[in-house]
Amino acid sequence: MSIRTICCIGAGYVGGPTMAVIADRCPGIQVTVVDLNQARIDAWNDPDLSKLPVYEPGLDAVVGRCRGRNLHFSTAVEPAIAAADMVFLSVNTPTKTKGVGAGQASDLRWIEASARQVAACAQGHTIVVEKSTLPVRTAETVQAILSAAQGDGASGGSPKTFAVLSNPEFLAEGTAIPDLEQPDRVLIGGDDPAAIEALAGVYGQWVPNDRILRTNLWSSELSKLTANAFLAQRISSINSIAALCEATGADVQEVAHAIGADSRLGSKFLKAGPGFGGSCFQKDILNLVYLCGHYGLHEVAAYWQSVVELNGWQQHRIARLVVQRLFGTVTGKRLAVLGFAFKADTNDTREAPAIRICRDLLEEGAQLAIYDPKVPASQMGNDLGHVGGVDAWQAVGSPLAAVQGADAVLILTEWLCFASLDWSQLAAQMRKPAWLFDARSIVDLQAAKSAGLNVWRVGMG
Ligand code: NAD
Ligand code: UGA
Repeated sequence: MSIRTICCIGAGYVGGPTMAVIADRCPGIQVTVVDLNQARIDAWNDPDLSKLPVYEPGLDAVVGRCRGRNLHFSTAVEPAIAAADMVFLSVNTPTKTKGVGAGQASDLRWIEASARQVAACAQGHTIVVEKSTLPVRTAETVQAILSAAQGDGASGGSPKTFAVLSNPEFLAEGTAIPDLEQPDRVLIGGDDPAAIEALAGVYGQWVPNDRILRTNLWSSELSKLTANAFLAQRISSINSIAALCEATGADVQEVAHAIGADSRLGSKFLKAGPGFGGSCFQKDILNLVYLCGHYGLHEVAAYWQSVVELNGWQQHRIARLVVQRLFGTVTGKRLAVLGFAFKADTNDTREAPAIRICRDLLEEGAQLAIYDPKVPASQMGNDLGHVGGVDAWQAVGSPLAAVQGADAVLILTEWLCFASLDWSQLAAQMRKPAWLFDARSIVDLQAAKSAGLNVWRVGMG
């Protein structure tokens, strides 16, 4: 079966960029991305490409090439499903906040709702692709919902039938476009060979066949959770060693380089920092922990739980040491925070380490001046709430504005522009003795020291 029309439910960080690249690489396929969120769809349709709801380097160019040609963004969910040969489910799957499994299990209400919409609106044969990250065996639920609608659709048309595939997404924010254009691999899980080959035929228009892996449904669903758990585990591992480096005089960058030179370990994902953020690592590990508990594998659950715990500890540790270095109190002191996004090259702040660190400092009574090149003040407000009082923090327009009268500057996101800051200019604006806390190992420490700043860098003994 050759695919001519695709509908993607969910126009978020995954649905938007993924479908834009499919449309770009497959000019013969009409791709419609639908969402319930009118404001988000309006932003995707904004003639000004700098206003797309997701900031990703290179995304504007891809959307600019395809939008209106074979890439469409719409809130009209039902007709887009009805017209589609293939429907991607790319909706959010956050951690449940209440009920059974609260704090661990994934909240599957949006995946169930979108599966029900497909069941109701699809016509003829439709391949349904799980793009969201899901607990193992979710495809069983999706199949059950679709099977209940099978055959009762099309009056006079071909009977309604479905095939379900798992096709998890491995893109990382900030590098979504290159990750999608040259993926290490594409993973397709399923038990219907024709459906698997139809999806492989879409990716095959730009991905070499040996990079398209085919597995059973459950391996595919579990591989996604496992990949994120292994990646996050490396970060907790190196952050644990960073703390030991600080205590012993070792340097975590030298240790990371030394161990990463072993080809069995590899050099990637060994950067110590303020802990991992992002919408997925914590959620996916907690999901794995919940699944292990469900299957009675309590030791396995505890093993993965510790990866999340170490991450939270690292964030609180950094806030604590800032307080300690500033003579044990930050009450009423102005602190400059540079970087709020969970990593560079994204406007996403979900689970950003900056949130936990800023909240801890606000609770200690600090006054924060926060600068991030891409995160708007309104988003910082959503994330910080009223901790410390409404006037306890302000968003500012530049690093120079942030450091005015500050006792310390904290680097919490590795934006490239922070690598070339003029420390003599910044230090001149700060109250002395002044500190630089570089949680991302990005700044020129020698320049900061020469400007008279005391410096702390993560993992530097
Ligand atoms: P997101 O919150 O940015 O986007 C999800 C969108 O789905 C929202 O705009 C929401 O309004 C929409 N939606 C929910 N229910 C809907 C419905 N019934 N009909 C229409 N629209 C609906 O989420 P995201 O970051 O794009 O993540 C989506 C999934 O992909 C998650 O499972 C996530 O774990 C996974 N994932 C995310 C990333 C990432 O980098 N963000 C990477 C890989 C995988
Ligand atoms: C991560 C994975 O890398 C993707 O493969 C996956 O598809 C995605 O999660 C997902 O499922 O959502 P993402 O969270 O966008 O991607 O970004 P990463 O580059 O993985 O960074 C995650 C966090 O770890 C960031 O806060 C980053 O600063 C931190 N990190 C990363 C480190 O502290 N050290 C490192 O060496 C690498």
